[in-house]
Amino acid sequence: MSTASVSARDTSSASVDHSAPSIPRLAFAVAGIGVALPTKRVTNRDLGASMDTDHAWIVGRTGIHARRVAGADESTTALASQAAVNALGDAGITPATLDLIVIATSTPDSGCPSTAARVASALGVRAGGFDVNAACCGFVHALGAAAALVADSVGTALVIGADRYTSLTDPTDRNTAVLFGDGAGAMVIQKVTRRPGAPGILGTDQGGAPRTLRLIEVTPGRDHLTMDGPDLFRRATRAMVASSAAALDRAGLAAGHVDLFVPHQANARIIAAAAERLGVDPARVVVDVAERANTSAASIPLALHSARSQGRLDAGATVLLSSVGAGLGWASLVMRWGR
Ligand code: ACO
Repeated sequence: MSTASVSARDTSSASVDHSAPSIPRLAFAVAGIGVALPTKRVTNRDLGASMDTDHAWIVGRTGIHARRVAGADESTTALASQAAVNALGDAGITPATLDLIVIATSTPDSGCPSTAARVASALGVRAGGFDVNAACCGFVHALGAAAALVADSVGTALVIGADRYTSLTDPTDRNTAVLFGDGAGAMVIQKVTRRPGAPGILGTDQGGAPRTLRLIEVTPGRDHLTMDGPDLFRRATRAMVASSAAALDRAGLAAGHVDLFVPHQANARIIAAAAERLGVDPARVVVDVAERANTSAASIPLALHSARSQGRLDAGATVLLSSVGAGLGWASLVMRWGR
């Protein structure tokens, strides 16, 4: 395909009302965040013992030192449910308060019922819910969808990113096995009044490039993920920059307004290149790949949780989330943080 299909022009969106940028399009507060990681930690050196790779190559090319790998009892549902319990505890609310559960995953435990239904069952709640399968972009799409429903009618929603990509990779394929890890991150969001200065979504962007499926996919009938890493690297970087710029434009903001850039955590070099081209100060960028690798839909909520633990997420902060994933697709979102 033509690389021109991943461009700022393709990610531009409908016209925007810039007259009142301090009023969020969709108002919600983040009441809590929680995460869950598998127990088993696999280092680069562990992988080097079973395939032709080494720690220096992996760290130099990706920034990854280790990843968590889920065991048989750490299903996507189990990880998502644990992250949910932790997020609800962080929010100080009981599961019964939940109206909606939206889960981003492309590694569900089964196709039916949804992972959202399985998590609702595990939590013992009556909340409705659905899954979003958009690979690494899943959490940004899920948050946008949940925020729209919260702003319209729903009081409290749980938004989760949960994936076990080590179940998709061939453990003998160095092109993919070194890049991924497993985990889940959850966020509790609650309706607030839409007014100037309220927390919520300020701008979004979504898009996709046709005829790029081959760059990363589990081909129908096959068990394992295949990937053209170098081509994906170039396109992912370009798409992340263009999509972030489009979301900022819709918010009436520029890169200089971003207090925290929390991109999908695939590769520290993609993140650094995207931040530099976008013009975001490196001090405002969250890089969380070293101990987690690429956790697909879980990477952004995991990174948000890390950032908050480091005291980097203040109320009122302008936070840019941006993701690129299999499809190829991309999704970005600018939000004002608030609890
Ligand atoms: N150990 C040692 N060598 C390796 C390994 C490994 N684990 N994996 C690949 N190589 C080799 C390749 O075989 C290739 O060898 P060749 O040149 O003899 O053919 C060579 O390394 C490729 O090297 P580079 O061109 O320098 O690779 P690059 O700098 O692009 O890094 C990487 C490779 C890390 C895969 C990078 O391209 C990347 O991160 N791409 C994006 C991957 C990604 O984001 N995946 C997530 C999927 S969707 C998403 O989240 C965006």
